[in-house]
Amino acid sequence: MKITVVGTGYVGLVTGTCFAETGNNVTCVDIDANKVKKLSSGQITIYEPGLEKLFERNQKEGRLHFTTDLAEGIKDARIIFLALPTPPGEDGSADLSYILGVADQLGKLLTDYKVIVDKSTVPVGTADKVHAAIAKHGVTDFDVVSNPEFLREGVAVEDFMKPDRVVIGTTSERAQKIMNELYAPFVRQGNPILFMDEKSAELTKYAANSFLATKITFMNEIAILCEKLGADVDMVRRGIGSDDRIGKRFLFPGIGYGGSCFPKDVQALVKSSEEVNYNFRILNAVTDVNEKQKLFLLPKIEAYFSNNLKGKHFALWGLAFKPNTDDIREAPALYIIDALVAAGATVTVFDPEAMENVKRVIGDKVKYADHQYECLQGANALIIATEWSVFRTPDFDAITGTLQHKVIFDGRNLFDVKRMQELGFHYESVGRQAATLQ
Ligand code: UDX
Repeated sequence: MKITVVGTGYVGLVTGTCFAETGNNVTCVDIDANKVKKLSSGQITIYEPGLEKLFERNQKEGRLHFTTDLAEGIKDARIIFLALPTPPGEDGSADLSYILGVADQLGKLLTDYKVIVDKSTVPVGTADKVHAAIAKHGVTDFDVVSNPEFLREGVAVEDFMKPDRVVIGTTSERAQKIMNELYAPFVRQGNPILFMDEKSAELTKYAANSFLATKITFMNEIAILCEKLGADVDMVRRGIGSDDRIGKRFLFPGIGYGGSCFPKDVQALVKSSEEVNYNFRILNAVTDVNEKQKLFLLPKIEAYFSNNLKGKHFALWGLAFKPNTDDIREAPALYIIDALVAAGATVTVFDPEAMENVKRVIGDKVKYADHQYECLQGANALIIATEWSVFRTPDFDAITGTLQHKVIFDGRNLFDVKRMQELGFHYESVGRQAATLQ
């Protein structure tokens, strides 16, 4: 099938590459000429494990093309995916100007039947708006479908190739048939393609992300309670997670969720609710708790250093909002850095992938170490903000030999508390009792 993907950001590039992988002929369109030039010459523009290999192969085999010309890009295409940014406006609602702008252009270009697919996360009612923006040019032979993505950064290729489910919002039988054919190779293991109306599909995406953000936030509050009551959140997590109705996943407490999706989507759903005069109280609370959770370690650090961080030096491991990505959007580490620096402390940071992005955003506010152990040089304590695998089994002798004091504040519960006690560390984490220096 010939497919066009408009927008070569994260979602667009993963979508285009993965559709090429199942034999489709894909053209990706972007207004950024520099990006298109890079992509056309075989240079991938995002970091996503496993994507580069597929990108190179499909481009070499002639199934993946890039252009800045929308008219050329949609020629002969049966399906046009819109994978465009929907940044939050000042009031938290999603800005649809990119999507509606392209819909308007499509209205001028369409000459034969095509399926236009909203892939971006968009508020309920957007499919109708896209439909109207195209139809106002007098075009009638097209369908607009909502097909939200459920890709996790770091495992996006796997999520795309083997989705838990595919959600397709359209009541047009013609569009349903085409979308079914397109996705059939991805659900061979028996996972469902769920057909529904456009609005339900649009809401499904927000509901999924908001539910997961709520699940994490619930555990973060349970963790706070565990510390106050003398319980261990790891035990409680296992205790509740083995109930199938709750499930084991997404129950790990930490220093809050970040990234490009959860914070934005929770906010957008709150905003959509307000627009229909509904106050989504749980989600307001989730946002509020999560904001505070990002600085969860701070009072512990302050208390340890007798409320005086002036002149103290910290090593910080982990800048990305989660492992296996270089994405630092809404990353808790940045909030911690701000707070430490504001309190008069200095910080040296290390992250396996996200250093360049952080340099671009905060420059010389912190020092950058080339290695995780070099980062510890002369620091009064180590703070861990992201659970990269390389931090999970560190060389504790190297840590002891480099840190000024054996003190670790761990926002991701990487180590066993008993072991840290035996190793002689002062070790504080999330929802578990502290290991203290004897
Ligand atoms: C998320 C959704 O999972 C995906 O389906 C959607 O399309 C985009 O948003 P992503 O933002 O890439 O994906 O990250 P995800 O792996 O879901 O983690 C989100 C955040 O939750 C991270 O900050 C992570 O650290 C945090 N998290 C996750 C926890 O704090 N505890 C957990 O148990 C799980």
